[in-house]
Amino acid sequence: MNGPSVGTPVEPCDFTVFGGTGDLALRKLLPALYLRDRDGQLPDGFRIIGVSRADVDDDGYRAMVEGALAEHVAHDELADDVVRRLLGRLHHVTLDVEDVGAWHRLHDRLKDGAAGEDVIRVFYLAVAPALFGPICEHLDQVGLATDRSRVVLEKPIGTDLATAETINEAVGRVFDESHIFRIDHYLGKESVQNLLVTRFANTFLEPLWNSHWVDHVQITVSEALGVGERGSYYDRSGALRDMVQNHLLQLVCLVAMEPPTYVDRETVRDEKLKVLQALRPLTPELVDRDVVAGQYAAGLSGGVLAPSYADEVGHESSTETFVALKTEVQNWRWAGVPFYLRTGKRMSERVSEIVVVFKEPPHPMFPHSEGPTEPNRLHIRVQPDEGMRLHMTAKEPGPGGIRLRPVSLDLSYAAAFGGRSPDAYERLLMDVVRGNTTLFMRRDEVEAAWAWVTPILDRWSRPSHRPRRYPAGTHGPVAAVTLLERDGRSWQETE
Ligand code: BG6
Repeated sequence: MNGPSVGTPVEPCDFTVFGGTGDLALRKLLPALYLRDRDGQLPDGFRIIGVSRADVDDDGYRAMVEGALAEHVAHDELADDVVRRLLGRLHHVTLDVEDVGAWHRLHDRLKDGAAGEDVIRVFYLAVAPALFGPICEHLDQVGLATDRSRVVLEKPIGTDLATAETINEAVGRVFDESHIFRIDHYLGKESVQNLLVTRFANTFLEPLWNSHWVDHVQITVSEALGVGERGSYYDRSGALRDMVQNHLLQLVCLVAMEPPTYVDRETVRDEKLKVLQALRPLTPELVDRDVVAGQYAAGLSGGVLAPSYADEVGHESSTETFVALKTEVQNWRWAGVPFYLRTGKRMSERVSEIVVVFKEPPHPMFPHSEGPTEPNRLHIRVQPDEGMRLHMTAKEPGPGGIRLRPVSLDLSYAAAFGGRSPDAYERLLMDVVRGNTTLFMRRDEVEAAWAWVTPILDRWSRPSHRPRRYPAGTHGPVAAVTLLERDGRSWQETE
C-alpha cells in the first residue's frame, strides 16, 4: 500500500532553479525533489537545471548537490540508486541574469531536451526579489515563457507594498496569474493543510468557531536558531517582513476564513483575501500600543551562550528579530475576538502553534469543587510533533466531593498515521508541476498583506525606533507579555 508521502507521477518537466547553488536550493528544493523521486513521482525526462553565476559544469553541480543531499536528507531516506538517478537529471547553466548576451545559454540548454517544445517548464526564482521582473522579461525575450511555463516566486515578494506591486506588474506582463506561483511554504505544511480539513470536514467545531464561544486566538511561530549565515538578507528584512507579512498572516487566514464552497484555487484564496481585508487597520497609535518589536541579546540558548543579534550581523542594528502583536478580524464572525501573534528567533524553543482559547462556561456549576477550572483550549501544533490537543476539565475519579482536573484529548499525527511527514516543499513543488495554485498566494493576497503591515513599517522606520532587547533562549521581551496581561490574558507556553 502506498504510504502517505507517495503520489502519482507528474508530467515530464524542465525544472529550472535560479539561485541553483544557493542555500534554499541546496537545503530545501533539491532534497524535496530527491524525496519525490524516491517515491516514484518524477518520470523519465524530468530534468533539473540549476542556474547561477557559479563557474561549475554539470559534474561540478552534481557533486555539490550530492553533498547537499548527504547533509540535508535524513540518512535512512538516502538510497544510492535514487541519488544516482536524481544526479543524472541535473544540469547547471552558468548565467549572470543581468547579462543579456548570456541568456542564450539557458535557452540552448532547455531546447536540447528530448521532451521537445511541449514540455512543462518551471522557473523557480530563488533569488533576490529585485531580479524577479528582469528574469521574467528575459525568459520572454528568449522564448521560454510559453503556455506550458510556470514561474515560482519565493517570498518575500518585495520589501513593501510599492515594491511588491512593481514586481507583480513586471511578472504579470509575462505570465498569466494562473501560471504564477507565489510560494509561502507554511501553506505546504501537513498540519497547516489539516487545519482546513479539521475545520471543514468536521461539524463539531463550526458552531463554536466564532465570537460567541472563542475568547481569543494565539499564534506563535518561535525559532531557537538565530540568523546565522543569513544576516545580510535578514538585517534588511526583519521578522515583520520575513515572517509576519506572510507565514503568520496566512495562518490567521486559515483560522479565520469562512468555509469556501469548494477547496479549489480561487474560492480558498477569495476567502483568505476577505480575512486580510478585514484585519483592523493600524494607526500609528495602535502600532505603538499593539505591536512589539524585539531583538535578541546574548543569552543561554540550549545550554550554550548564544551571541547577540548585533554580534551575529557584525554591527548595531534596529532590525527586529521578534514581533508580537494584537489584531482583530473585523467581521460578523470574529468581531471583538483578539488575535495575538508572535514570532521570533533565538527563542526558548522551536515551536509553531495555534491556540484557540474558548470562553469560560457561562455559569459556575460546581461552586464547591476543588481544583482549577480552565477554559477549553484547542492547541493546533504545526511543528514539531504535529498534532492537536483539546484541553478540557474532568472530574478526578474518587468518592467524596467533586475535584476538577484539567485533562487533554490528544491527536498526534505520528501516532495516528505513522510514517514520515513530508516537507512542505515536496508537496508544493509537485503542485507547481501539476499547475495547481490553490496553496500559493494570489497577487491580491500578497498586496493586501503588505498594505496591512505598512503602518508598522512606517512607524518603525523612524530613526528613534529601537526594538526591545530579550535574552537569547527566552520567550521574547517583557512587553510581549504585557501586551496580553493588560487584557487579563497570558501566552500559552508549550507544556
Ligand atoms: C522562512 C524564513 O520563510 O521561514 C526564515 O525566511 C525562517 O527566517 C523559516 O527560519 C522558518 O520556516 P520553518 O519551516 O522552519 O518554520
